[in-house]
Amino acid sequence: MKAGASSGAFRPRRLGHVNLYVADIEQSMSFYRKVLGIEEAYRTPLGGGGFVSNGNTHHDVGFTAAFGPLGKPRGAKPGQLSHIALELENERELVEDYYRAVKAGVSFLRTTDHDIAHSIYGRDPEGVIYELYADVVKDWRTHRSGVVTKPKPDWKPGMTPPVEKACYHEVPVITRVPEAIFHPLRTTHAAIVVANMEKAVDYYCKVVGLAADPACGGKPFAVLKGTCNERSLILYSASGIRAPGYHHVAMRVASPAELAKSADKARRAGIPVVAEMLHCGRCSVMVRDPDNCLVRFYADEGREPGADDVDPSLALFVL
Ligand SMILES: [Fe+2]
Repeated sequence: MKAGASSGAFRPRRLGHVNLYVADIEQSMSFYRKVLGIEEAYRTPLGGGGFVSNGNTHHDVGFTAAFGPLGKPRGAKPGQLSHIALELENERELVEDYYRAVKAGVSFLRTTDHDIAHSIYGRDPEGVIYELYADVVKDWRTHRSGVVTKPKPDWKPGMTPPVEKACYHEVPVITRVPEAIFHPLRTTHAAIVVANMEKAVDYYCKVVGLAADPACGGKPFAVLKGTCNERSLILYSASGIRAPGYHHVAMRVASPAELAKSADKARRAGIPVVAEMLHCGRCSVMVRDPDNCLVRFYADEGREPGADDVDPSLALFVL
């Protein structure tokens, strides 16, 4: 067992991004910039990929063309989750943790050299694909802007000397899209509805290495955190009205006042607001993207609401 936030095989810091299958990369990139307020970072046309970011990491959200060269062979449909991605401290930890997990009997789907980051992909017991990655380049903007066509060489953990230092930015420069309707600071967490809560929490703690908030014991939801001690993943028990699967991505905005203004602006612009609520001091506004994926923006009036503060029936829309 390693010291730190969890006793898992890995020790992720936080959620880095979600990647969604989309019908039309152009449409998604445009909507996320003009409406949701996240800038285009770069594109990878050879794989049918598009990536948006406000500077927190190289991408807060990634898009994969459902009918493109990566999506088509996987039978992807627009609006499906491709994967969630969790950031590790550095590549050395990624490599060491990978071999520890493999030795313990964990199997993974694939490993990939993304040039700026090295990644390991696995599948959780619910079928959700997760990526564990470490940045290997700090100045990602130099390597990732515009159209990127650099091929991705074969990579197995450890076949290149692992980068020892942390390459994420402690205090990233966050940009703002002034003309957009919403103004998120960054992606913070993803919400997934699960069929078997106990099994899913066990996997995310023991294999992925997130730490479960003990205050969620006995509740229909679980809050999982990385070593940054922020919510990275919310799991919610499936019910008759809520089927298992990816539910939404959550993005923090600067203040409740700004969020209220954005919600009004969205309505005036004809963008349907799926949900808007103030609960336990947290304001949340949900909208759908062009592929029907839910995006939730939130801001707190005071401290972050705790698991015991929240009405369990609203937790999926509040936490
Ligand atoms: Fe990814």
